[in-house]
Amino acid sequence: MTDQEAKSVVRVGVLGCGNVGAALVALVQERGEEISSRTGVTLEVAKVAVRSLTRKRPIDLDDSILTRDSGELVSDPSIDVIVEVIGGIEPARELILTALANGKPVVTANKELLANHGAELFAAASQAGVDLLFEASVAGGIPILRPLRESLVGEDVRRIMGIVNGTTNFILTRMSEQGTGYAEALAEAQQLGYAERDPTADVEGYDAGAKAAILASLAFGAKVVAGDVYHEGISNIGATDIEFADRLGYVVKLLAIAELIEVEGSESEVAVRVHPAMVPKSHPLAGVRDSFNAVFVEGAAVGDLMFYGRGAGGDPTGSAVLGDLVDAAVNLRKGTSADLLTLGRKPIRPIDELQSSYYVNLDVLDRPGVLRAVAEAFERHGVSIRSLEQEGVGADARLIFITHQAREADVQATLDDLRELEVIHQITSVLRVIGDDEVH
Ligand SMILES: NC(=O)c1ccc[n+]([C@@H]2O[C@H](COP(=O)([O-])OP(=O)(O)OC[C@H]3O[C@@H](n4cnc5c(N)ncnc54)[C@H](OP(=O)(O)O)[C@@H]3O)[C@@H](O)[C@H]2O)c1
Repeated sequence: MTDQEAKSVVRVGVLGCGNVGAALVALVQERGEEISSRTGVTLEVAKVAVRSLTRKRPIDLDDSILTRDSGELVSDPSIDVIVEVIGGIEPARELILTALANGKPVVTANKELLANHGAELFAAASQAGVDLLFEASVAGGIPILRPLRESLVGEDVRRIMGIVNGTTNFILTRMSEQGTGYAEALAEAQQLGYAERDPTADVEGYDAGAKAAILASLAFGAKVVAGDVYHEGISNIGATDIEFADRLGYVVKLLAIAELIEVEGSESEVAVRVHPAMVPKSHPLAGVRDSFNAVFVEGAAVGDLMFYGRGAGGDPTGSAVLGDLVDAAVNLRKGTSADLLTLGRKPIRPIDELQSSYYVNLDVLDRPGVLRAVAEAFERHGVSIRSLEQEGVGADARLIFITHQAREADVQATLDDLRELEVIHQITSVLRVIGDDEVH
């Protein structure tokens, strides 16, 4: 091997060889030559750290490559770049920090770690002057972080709305299109391998919340952590919500929303949240079905953009990791690194202060004066009603409201009053509505 050829080889240490790690190694094996001829850099998977040396893996790996010693791998001077696809906070955090301190660029798919310790990792990478790339951490195979960081760096991004959890989108699609109940749709998602045996992180919105924090950080250059994200999941969504949404011209989606809110005479604020919402059928996000993901970006100059594709799965995620890995390897050989964002502090606007339009479905007594009592509760808290439907008789009587934009705290106060009214059997459901009369 000539000196030049030896210099073009970049030795990669991979931490973890599960769904994503194994797919990445297979992609490097398949695409290596093409990558080498296009970039002049040859990727060599030098070491792969795992927990079990005996576990069967879907890829061919020489025994000498597998190791249980992940600590040694991040300190080995013969390894140039580290890919972290173990997941979770520790030992991933410690391993990444050691790799960076040893001058090794790092590629990771770990949303949980980035959403909780992103600033610490960015600072460590910046101090070491090496890349820390994490495209796969949000929306799997969809390129969204690089576009936000590079193509849209000059754009005034106002709002991002994403369907960033494939499991919940699959469940909601089944409920909408086949009338399947929540429990049955979840069981099907588990059977197909979309949902974990313990689905809490997905269905309660934690996974989407971590991704929302990363999206907000990149889009607004602000330190946003998972704990800043308000989240509600989909486990309370019932057939009635889906049915009424459909009749009113909406579909129910779990949205991760990150917004930059102008505050007159003061610094702009960031609002980040995850909750189910009624999305108009005409909105591009409404057509995102099954386990697909999409991220809808609203910019002042560019207008609306939508990034769509596979948000999870070994191959799509491995593809995103590979893109970052090639970038990191090329940068390393050029002696440069991608510019890391400087994340400043921006105030986080609490959910109580946010504005939205709401759908409120009430199970009421069928007798005169009910509508007036309910309307008064809305009026008392300054929540104005955009549309009202009355339906059913006797025990089936119902009132369905859609409000104009209203402050969350005012809507919650209205709901508290409604719960006290004798004429209301129960508040069947309340959902935020994405509409075209949105003002902030
Ligand atoms: N799966 C997806 O669709 C997807 C999508 C986007 C992002 N991600 C992210 O990608 C990362 C990996 O996900 P995954 O689905 O590939 O996970 P996974 O299938 O559970 O694989 C984890 C791998 O890490 C290894 N491991 C665990 N602890 C270790 C340790 N202390 N030292 C060395 N190796 C260790 C495991 O070894 P053994 O094989 O020996 O048990 C396994 O190979 C996570 O951060 C996840 O959030 C995944």
